[in-house]
Amino acid sequence: MDELRLNKLFAAFLFAALLLMAGIKIAEIMVPHQKLAQNSYVIEVAETTVLAAAAPVETGPEPILAMLAGADLGAGEKLSKKCSACHVFDAGGKNKVGPALWNIVNKPMAAAEGYAYSDALAGFGGNWDYQSLNAFLAKPKVYISGTKMNFGGLKKPKDRANLIAWMRVKADSPAALPTADDIAAEGGN
Ligand code: HEC
Repeated sequence: MDELRLNKLFAAFLFAALLLMAGIKIAEIMVPHQKLAQNSYVIEVAETTVLAAAAPVETGPEPILAMLAGADLGAGEKLSKKCSACHVFDAGGKNKVGPALWNIVNKPMAAAEGYAYSDALAGFGGNWDYQSLNAFLAKPKVYISGTKMNFGGLKKPKDRANLIAWMRVKADSPAALPTADDIAAEGGN
């Protein structure tokens, strides 16, 4: 092979390579790279265990016992307007959509005479002490799943404390306020 032919061959080779590179560049411009929405291959993880570990622990309502003694009864009475479409708090009050609530603090649950409770509440068991009222009024349907009380709950601990303190005095003889030991046991201060 003479030198000229070799050169020609080399030039042709070079030209072909350039053409190829240009072609790739053009293709890249015309078909831009797309980010994949997700990995094209999905790595299977034992999802249940991961989720279980990451799931938030149900912490229950914030403590309120420490707030009861100094609660604002006027604010509590105002908050009771959120309940009065369904409940009467006064002595001798009748059952409405919900049961009558006079004397409710420390009363056994589901004990209003002549009221048709849901099976969920009727079978729950226990008394309406400060802690169960706190939990129920924070998230009624979480505390007693299946209750027919259609109320979203009072998010603010202070609101619950004010309302429960007011409910406490809507009674023949108001229940004792929590002791320092009760407060410590609840985790308040
Ligand atoms: C939309 C109506 C409605 C509203 C508003 C409502 N409740 Fe109720 N409540 C009910 C019903 C209905 C029940 C009975 C639940 C069941 O049987 O599951 C109930 C049950 C209760 C009980 C249990 C009584 C018992 O005898 O065991 C308490 C305590 C209570 N409600 C307090 C409140 C308070 C406090 C508020 C306001 C912050 C409130 N509810 C708002 C309808 C309502």
